[in-house]
Amino acid sequence: EAVFSASLLQSSVLFVLCLCVSDIQCHDWGVWSEGSVRVYDGEVAYLYCPLFSYPTLYSYSQTQNSSLSLLWYRHTHTHELEQPINLKLHTLHKDREYLWIQPASAQDAGLYICMLRYDLFRRDRELKGDDLVIYRMMEPYTGLYTCVVSYQMNGRTLQFTRNINVIAVVPDVGSKVPIILNPASDQIYTVTLGDTVTLSCRVHLPHLYEEKQHIWWTIDNKTVEQLADPRFSALEDTLVSYDYGDELKERVLNVMDFSADDLQREFNCSARNSRGFNTSRAVLKTEPYVPTLELGCGLGVTLALMLMMFVIYHVFWLELLLLYRSWFGSDERYTDDKQYDVYISYARNSEEEEFVLSTLRRVLETEFGYSVCIFDRDSLPGGTITDDTLRFVGQSRRLVVVVSPCSAVRGTQALLELQAGLTSMLHGGSLRVVLIQFKPVRRKSWVKELRRARLALTLIRWKGEKSAPLSSRKNIKNINIFGFYFEVIYFNVMIMIY
Ligand SMILES: *[C@@H]1O[C@H](CO)[C@@H](O)[C@H](O)[C@H]1NC(C)=O
Ligand SMILES: *[C@@H]1O[C@H](CO)[C@@H](O)[C@H](O)[C@H]1NC(C)=O
Ligand SMILES: *[C@@H]1O[C@H](CO)[C@@H](O)[C@H](O)[C@H]1NC(C)=O
Ligand SMILES: *[C@@H]1O[C@H](CO)[C@@H](O)[C@H](O)[C@H]1NC(C)=O
Repeated sequence: EAVFSASLLQSSVLFVLCLCVSDIQCHDWGVWSEGSVRVYDGEVAYLYCPLFSYPTLYSYSQTQNSSLSLLWYRHTHTHELEQPINLKLHTLHKDREYLWIQPASAQDAGLYICMLRYDLFRRDRELKGDDLVIYRMMEPYTGLYTCVVSYQMNGRTLQFTRNINVIAVVPDVGSKVPIILNPASDQIYTVTLGDTVTLSCRVHLPHLYEEKQHIWWTIDNKTVEQLADPRFSALEDTLVSYDYGDELKERVLNVMDFSADDLQREFNCSARNSRGFNTSRAVLKTEPYVPTLELGCGLGVTLALMLMMFVIYHVFWLELLLLYRSWFGSDERYTDDKQYDVYISYARNSEEEEFVLSTLRRVLETEFGYSVCIFDRDSLPGGTITDDTLRFVGQSRRLVVVVSPCSAVRGTQALLELQAGLTSMLHGGSLRVVLIQFKPVRRKSWVKELRRARLALTLIRWKGEKSAPLSSRKNIKNINIFGFYFEVIYFNVMIMIY
């Protein structure tokens, strides 16, 4: 009993139908447990490939006519994947749809797989005696082929193995002369004088058996070696691409410190193999001279000048305007028949009286030579104030109104002057009105006329001592340039007259 169970072998047969060259599209029919075979140790066993038990699928004779072949595999514990059955072992023998094990031993236990495979090998490749013939070479046939030779000596089987790597190459038809892709006939190499110039030559070298193909550069029909000039150096050629034996190779020529004389030389790239020779000249052209430095400098200087002028204008615009006025400004006396340049209106008996009579008057009259009309000084005694005021305002080109808490109070001379000025201005007169705020005044306390005038006119603020020095520019910001025509009376405050 013990012997029996020990010698009992159990094998199952798995069967897989595969209809492809590779294992991409295999149909697995699963495990056929009825096919399990029991055999006593040392006895003969045979496995039947169950694929043929379905006549509708395949009959064995059919496989003989088509490119189908039956293959046996085995799952072993030592390998992850199933291994092909080694039919060279004397114990294993394939006979039609049967696999014989004679005799079976304990190592033969396991899972057996039978596979029907479409085998292109049988159509395009054939074993003829000791030779393997490939009738029609195809990409899948590339790879390592192994040849095992075994023989008997002194009753022992000996063997040796050789590997042959098979690659696919293009057919040996058509011209096999090297083709120079670069320099192409219409190609122009741009070079920079004084720089290191790199010329690249690309050659298509068709596949030829066991043959050295050469690529080289010549300068005036001299190779780099013949020229022996250290400025010229050619690198080893490099393989750019490989396509079934056809090669695309590149060879680079470096010329250091490229000179104008080099431009006259003939740079040719040549290639040779046993089938022929090709050469192509590289057409060189210098880069148009771009004086980067000079151009940059010029641009820089221009920009700097522009910036300087911009700054000068912004800092000294006032002086510039005055200068302009003194040089080109027309003397207003000849443009109309008015008597005064400026009429100054102010509140009498107030702080600003002092300001008007000394500071404002002095600057306008003495510094800038305007003819100034100050009613109290210039009017002749005896006349009607109202008529005289209207006449004087009418005789002036500008009305400067000094606005302060005391000014423009109802019934005063100042209000009369303001009204006269506004009336003249509104009725298309050529009078220009300028408001100077001598002291901060709350808007609410202004008379209606002043509030209206403020909407249309610029108000210039007198800032006391801060405005006093002639060089003061503090008031520039307060000037709202809203007229088109403007002229500046330089005074400790800016007065814009339009
Ligand atoms: C296979 O070829 C044999 C002759 O070689 C022929 O008698 C048989 O009918 C063919 N079978 C098929 C399925 O083509
Ligand atoms: C190279 O030679 C072949 C055949 O002689 C020719 O067809 C091809 O145009 C040549 N190419 C160049 C770049 O000279
Ligand atoms: C270039 O030089 C070789 C000898 O080195 C000569 O056989 C060939 O004719 C020359 N080719 C030209 C275009 O001068
Ligand atoms: C250089 O190549 C041109 C063709 O581009 C050829 O006409 C000329 O003869 C070649 N020169 C040499 C020296 O090989």
